[in-house]
Amino acid sequence: METLMSNWLNPVEKTPEKYIFPAHQRPGSQPFPVMNDIPLIDLQHPNPQHIIDRIIDACQRFGIFQVINHGIPASLMEETMAVMKGFFSGPAEHKASLYSTDLAKKCRIYSSTLNYDSEDFHYWRDNLTHHCHPVHDHIHLWPHHPPTYRQVVGEYAVETRKLMVRILEAICEGLGLKPDYLEGKMTKTQLLSVNHHIPCPDPSLTLGMPQHTDPNLITILQQCSVPGLHVFRHHQWMDVPSDPTAFLVVPGLQLKVMSNGRFRSPIHRVMTHQEEARTTIGTFLIPSNEIVIEPAGDSPAVYRGFTYGEFFRCFTRSNCDADTALAYFQTDSKSPTLLK
Ligand code: OGA
Ligand code: NI
Repeated sequence: METLMSNWLNPVEKTPEKYIFPAHQRPGSQPFPVMNDIPLIDLQHPNPQHIIDRIIDACQRFGIFQVINHGIPASLMEETMAVMKGFFSGPAEHKASLYSTDLAKKCRIYSSTLNYDSEDFHYWRDNLTHHCHPVHDHIHLWPHHPPTYRQVVGEYAVETRKLMVRILEAICEGLGLKPDYLEGKMTKTQLLSVNHHIPCPDPSLTLGMPQHTDPNLITILQQCSVPGLHVFRHHQWMDVPSDPTAFLVVPGLQLKVMSNGRFRSPIHRVMTHQEEARTTIGTFLIPSNEIVIEPAGDSPAVYRGFTYGEFFRCFTRSNCDADTALAYFQTDSKSPTLLK
């Protein structure tokens, strides 16, 4: 439990050695260019076709975009953020019972990554992850501190699911598929993943989250006002602006496959901040294990079909490097299969 940074004495005076990355992996202190051209899509635009076109363009050229006028009340976003900050800054005993790195646990808190015990260096973060759908199947496992957690997050889970389904419908239409193509087993699992990073004495030496691509179907992210997200674009790391009223949308690798490689799924990572704690609320939609993921429409297919379970086994064996895992399913893949 002493591994949970949110239980440490704040402020931390000196960065502990286990958190200082070797020189070639450190982010450094040079200013990073800001990704000012990140698409900002108004979901209340009067022309639905315009929304679809902009989403498809954003998925193809950026692989990340922001949505505004998304229908989730500002008050619900603020309350959820407050509840999350309250959870992490709250009493250690409320967190202790949820501490686990076991993937099978449907509600858990852990620090750094799931490999805390075996990794050489730790990432500067605590994370709370739990299942959300349907709410009534999981709510009894969720934190009950702050006391409003379950009620507020229950509402948030329902609203964020609706928003993601709406974005997926637009994507399907844009790809020439039936709007409900991804309904059902493709979007069976909904996970909430909350990152919390306490202030770090030296952000140039540490990382809040490793570089990665999202292995799931789709992610939406609510940021607080403290920046930290980096996207690798034009051969360099760029700062993503943090707008706490917008949702950031990241199409996951399964959408890249479905779009037959047309969509991007950009590499991203998280920086730490010297003065302020940063909290983000990610919501993921994930296919069920037996569902087959395959390119829809376009030919020739650049990926062979696979079950999500097969992909996920490959993902874990590739050290959670989603791009390496995906390479095994390319039709021109020269990689030996990991699955024998
Ligand atoms: C993620 C992620 C970014 C952030 O959870 O997959 O990339 O800013 N989060 O917390
Ligand atoms: Ni991510």
